[in-house]
Amino acid sequence: MPETIEVCTLSELPPGAMRLVEHDELEIGVFNCAGTVYAIEDRCSHDDGPLVEGLLDEAQCTVECPRHGSLFDLKTGRPLSLPAYVPVDTFAVLIDGEMIKLEVE
Ligand code: FES
Repeated sequence: MPETIEVCTLSELPPGAMRLVEHDELEIGVFNCAGTVYAIEDRCSHDDGPLVEGLLDEAQCTVECPRHGSLFDLKTGRPLSLPAYVPVDTFAVLIDGEMIKLEVE
């Protein structure tokens, strides 16, 4: 059964902002890309780079791994450039009034 966790309010994560959420063993990067919120596993599939410390491109909705530069699509978790080639997990985002919530397993 998926569990719902609260992240923060929309005003605390404005467009262009990102934040790390920790839940049990999970580290999740939450990104506001030009007004749409996405959540992906905060661990690059290449060598565990912290994606939430990377560069967010709001036009393309990608984040660049700060370690070796792979670009990840925030919508799908798929890497768009090497060296990473395995997708990272994505998480469903729910907007409940002002509150951003995630569905986690
Ligand atoms: S750790 Fe992300 S590209 Fe190497």
